[in-house]
Amino acid sequence: MKLFVDTGNLKEIEALAALGILDGVTTNPSLLAKEGGDSRRILREICRLVQGPVSAEVVATDTAGMIREGRDLAGIDPHIVVKVPFTKDGVKACKALASEGTRVNVTLVFSATQAWLAAKARASYVSPFVGRLDDIGATGMNLIREIVDIFDNFEFPTQVLVASVRNPVHVVEAARMGADVVTVPAAVIEQCFKHPLTDIGLERFLKDWEKAQAAKV
Ligand code: G3P
Repeated sequence: MKLFVDTGNLKEIEALAALGILDGVTTNPSLLAKEGGDSRRILREICRLVQGPVSAEVVATDTAGMIREGRDLAGIDPHIVVKVPFTKDGVKACKALASEGTRVNVTLVFSATQAWLAAKARASYVSPFVGRLDDIGATGMNLIREIVDIFDNFEFPTQVLVASVRNPVHVVEAARMGADVVTVPAAVIEQCFKHPLTDIGLERFLKDWEKAQAAKV
């Protein structure tokens, strides 16, 4: 399963890229707005840092506007994947952009039928939002299981990109279900690294080693 970070923050991306574990980045208008400044420059810099797929979302809501914006975003860097919302206009824009060779990530997916329709429109990725489903009392991860099953049945090349991830349990479940990609906020990636027994264990190893060294002199 590929690991993307869900952020527009260059410092977070730089630190994760340096660890050698980062496969790509997803952004959205909310995340880029939080960073301020020139979003095209930020996207170009993200592409340089990650050298993998970088989702950049259109803000137009009509098909023609999404296609125009999608072409413009795709022109920023070859790593850009154009993100469009799951609407009828978005599905039409997805099909058009995909037929020009642009990779498209269909976002704001909350049902298996939406994911299936996006795959039929030749999306490279679909982004089901698990956390936001949990927020309304549903079980977001059930949707991932449904989508993975459907895509496997028909051998759709569209990748399942688990989004709106809130905790490491989402990450584990996504991997067990065979999702292709999980996009995770930097704070949750940090949680994935941590285990108190690792810290305690390391401290004990080092203490024992130091004690043994001291006994030698
Ligand atoms: O990038 C889209 C998605 O991951 C948003 O997550 O936490 O705003 O529901 P969230």
